Amino acid sequence: MSDQPYVFQATCSAPVNIAWGKRDTSLILPTNSSLSVTLSQDHLRSLTSAAYITRKQLGTFPPDRLWLNGEEEEVKEGGRTARCLAEMRRLREQVEAANPSLQKIASYPIHIASENNFPTAAGLASSASGLSALVATLASLYALQDHGVSTSELSRIARQGSGSACRSMFGGYVAWEMGSQADGSDSVAVEVAPASHWPDLHALILVVSDKKKGTPSTAGMQRTVATSALLEHRIRDVVPARMERITRAIHARDFDAFARETMADSNQFHAVCLDTEPPIFYLNDVSRAVIQLVTELNRASVAAGKGCVAAYTYDAGPNAVLYVQEKDVAHVLDVVLRYFPQSAESFPDPFQLGVDPAGGKGAL
Ligand code: ADP
Ligand code: DP6
Ligand code: CO
Repeated sequence: MSDQPYVFQATCSAPVNIAWGKRDTSLILPTNSSLSVTLSQDHLRSLTSAAYITRKQLGTFPPDRLWLNGEEEEVKEGGRTARCLAEMRRLREQVEAANPSLQKIASYPIHIASENNFPTAAGLASSASGLSALVATLASLYALQDHGVSTSELSRIARQGSGSACRSMFGGYVAWEMGSQADGSDSVAVEVAPASHWPDLHALILVVSDKKKGTPSTAGMQRTVATSALLEHRIRDVVPARMERITRAIHARDFDAFARETMADSNQFHAVCLDTEPPIFYLNDVSRAVIQLVTELNRASVAAGKGCVAAYTYDAGPNAVLYVQEKDVAHVLDVVLRYFPQSAESFPDPFQLGVDPAGGKGAL
């Protein structure tokens, strides 16, 4: 074993403009650009540690091993984790070649353990935090950033583990520009604004169900690409203009515009899921009740001459993220708790709730 394990954490993110669809499933190149907010590490996070084993491969047992939430997961040959590991090894080999005094560790097997402190595969972007934490941990194990490897380069590798992970390598407000090159060289995440740009913005995470979703994101979006005509309209006529508007809203800290675009994009994403054959249902009755509650809160606030007080967004799962400005957090929490009381009697699967300052530190 190496002298010490390398531990790193990364957080998940909440999309305000959603990536759903791939034009290349192997390199993970999206059909549209997207934008998300990387949440602070204080709440929802993947904690990943990695160590290299200083012995050569024994027998035919797969050399690299991964434990996720205490259970071993197979690192499939040619799979996404294996691809990330291969890319990271390639970078370490380059660093070793350029620095002959460095220990040659690139070929050693790696053992990785990761734990999410929030539901895995339940639509709270565990693949974003998990794969970005994996790449960040390996970068630290291999001392890549001490030898000039940039966060952008690492983000390109994280993208090949899970598309949404490329954005989670950066903190704050992050766009994933779809790019047009066949090799994916311009399909990259870029910071739109740092976390500090809008400290007033909070994200409330409403865990409606912690169960693993029935349709994993990768499979769901492939089905949508193959069957939904609405997706083509979304990609061509909706997302490009929305990316510009949401970026402007973030730069201007215009909560009302930010809220409207975020909710519209969440709604259209779930409409596209319904337009898929067979349809994909990520929202459940509680998710829809939260949408109704936020709609009513906003209607009353707008009628009183104030703007929106909250914006909902749902990833590929039933769990809600509500964006709220600091001045409204207490009020929105109060209303949510009144309508969705957290008692064992009314909710056998307790309706958990957490508050997370949006735009926290990124993975690196
Ligand atoms: P989610 O909505 O949570 O992102 P996905 O279907 O996109 O769900 O991805 C879930 C998959 O991501 C898991 O089944 C697992 O393979 C991978 N994953 C989640 N968390 C981690 C982690 N901490 N480390 C490595 N892989 C992870
Ligand atoms: C709904 O990044 O999880 O979270 O690239 O196949 O791993 P893979 O999919 P993933 O899908 C993201 C879809 C989304 C929206 C988003 O994060 O933009
Ligand atoms: Co995911």
